[in-house]
Amino acid sequence: MLKVAIIIGSTRPGRKAEAVARWVYDIASKRSDAEFEIVDIKDFNLPLLDEPVPAAMGQYSQPHTKAWAAKIAQFDAFVFVTPEYNHGPSAALKNAIDFLYREWNNKSVGFVGYGGNGGARAVEILRQVVSNVELADVRAQVGLSLFTDFEDFTNFQPGSHHDPTVTLMLDQVIAWGRALKPLRAAVADQSR
Ligand SMILES: Cc1cc2nc3c(=O)[nH]c(=O)nc-3n(C[C@H](O)[C@H](O)[C@H](O)COP(=O)(O)O)c2cc1C
Repeated sequence: MLKVAIIIGSTRPGRKAEAVARWVYDIASKRSDAEFEIVDIKDFNLPLLDEPVPAAMGQYSQPHTKAWAAKIAQFDAFVFVTPEYNHGPSAALKNAIDFLYREWNNKSVGFVGYGGNGGARAVEILRQVVSNVELADVRAQVGLSLFTDFEDFTNFQPGSHHDPTVTLMLDQVIAWGRALKPLRAAVADQSR
């Protein structure tokens, strides 16, 4: 069974990311074509990148990097739940991506953004970032509005019109995650 992580992309106290991730999980967990798990970057207490060697070299030295790598290695595909901070993604999410390399390779990713403009600018930047860790980003993306999907900019009340887009994004993430499985197996064989 394909395993998909829904990654909470904010570590901010009072973050909206957690409610958004739970909503995605609730929709996703009704499906039978993949298994889903919420992964909270906050649980890994990642500092600002403190590895002496770039992640692509695969020489992780810190216990927190090894724990984060072991978690991400468990999955075939990802959904990044991302806020928009200053027209980009959160530093916490970018930092968490930067920590690893091989664990992201040849897997698929979809995005759920939120902000004044659906987190669209954060997602556009993330699409460039993920390409460099060889994650395949799917087209469908969910854009939640702080104005209309959060009552008083606080309580998450997503419009039901978003549900089909979540489903389409998950369809694409799962299809590409599955399609890339033979490539991941071939790469794993080569490195043995
Ligand atoms: C430092 C900072 C910068 C922000 N910049 C933007 C922005 O450029 N565009 C936008 O739509 N929202 C922006 N916001 C509003 C966030 O989208 C909103 O606070 C959201 O709830 C943040 O996600 P979180 O609560 O999960 O951390 C910003 C918020 C913060 C804290």
